[in-house]
Amino acid sequence: PSGFTILASAGQVPAKVVTNDDLAARMDTSDEWIRQRTGIHTRHIAGDDESTSTLCTTVAQQLLHQAGIGADQLSYIVVATMSPDYATPATAAQVQGAIGAANAVAFDISAACSGFVYGLHLMQRLLAGPDVRYGLVLGGETLSRLVDWTDRSTAVLFGDGAGGVLLSNQGSGQYLGRDLRTLGDQGAYLTARALHGQAPSDAFLHMNGRKIYTFAVRAVPRSLQAAVDQAGLSLDQVDHFLLHQANARIITQVAKELDQPLDKFPMNIAAVGNTAAASEPLLLAETIAGGQIQRGEVLALCGFGGGLTVGTVVLRY
Ligand code: ACO
Repeated sequence: PSGFTILASAGQVPAKVVTNDDLAARMDTSDEWIRQRTGIHTRHIAGDDESTSTLCTTVAQQLLHQAGIGADQLSYIVVATMSPDYATPATAAQVQGAIGAANAVAFDISAACSGFVYGLHLMQRLLAGPDVRYGLVLGGETLSRLVDWTDRSTAVLFGDGAGGVLLSNQGSGQYLGRDLRTLGDQGAYLTARALHGQAPSDAFLHMNGRKIYTFAVRAVPRSLQAAVDQAGLSLDQVDHFLLHQANARIITQVAKELDQPLDKFPMNIAAVGNTAAASEPLLLAETIAGGQIQRGEVLALCGFGGGLTVGTVVLRY
């Protein structure tokens, strides 16, 4: 099999919406600061009955329904997350159990905001094997449970949600190129849930925003260019660049750096904030559902963040 086709795409966010003004009422920040520095207006926050696994399970059910495929036909389920319900079982195993995908091998990958792109690459390899046909790649987060709600430098940035795709190794879609990189020597710039920490605060998400910003505006254009080169295409031949929604300013700067029109970079950060591994699949599902992406178009998906990690996958939809 040589195809790699997105048969279905779906996203799910918690019902509860938290505005910048809601945050300004509980910490020293403002709607103006958050909008100007990040582009975020609102984010969705999980309720008591919602978790990373419940959001991912809803997405998985939507994907099967859309594609008209039975859960027993799935060979693999991969969930990218940095905020799983448990260290074990894996979120993917919880999803597999909940949807009754008896024939699927299911496991999580931990690559923060690059997790979905790393997952697509992995699934392309997995689906090249014999006697397999369908796999799910999901990204899901409840980052609201990792952040320190007294730390304005991180609490205003993140949101909860899940998204994903159902992939087949047949059909008209194609995997065209990729560029994945890990910079483990810079991992200290973004950490969460330390189990060995000395202080209770070590369990929270900590980020050196300036360092990650500088990393992103250098590494993302390079990764996009390398993946497009590998695909044997030019940047002009990419129809849509779906970037991790961490900061609207990063996306604007990347578009400028690559000399590509900003309207090729769809954004939903205003409504959902930074949802880490859920970011690109939520955006993909929204743009496909909105009719902005057509069959046959070339997509470049790029994630970057904790690890540090960066990754781009180029596909024909
Ligand atoms: N409200 C008001 N003021 C604030 C807030 C806030 N929420 N947060 C910080 N400030 C203040 C700071 O204290 C600082 O004040 P000072 O100048 O008096 O010291 C000032 O605002 C500027 O702070 P900076 O951190 O320098 O602000 P910056 O312009 O760098 O924006 C931001 C911060 C938005 C975090 C930016 O650095 C960024 O987006 N970084 C990249 C993050 C990213 O891409 N992450 C991706 C990976 S995420 C993942 O993997 C999970």
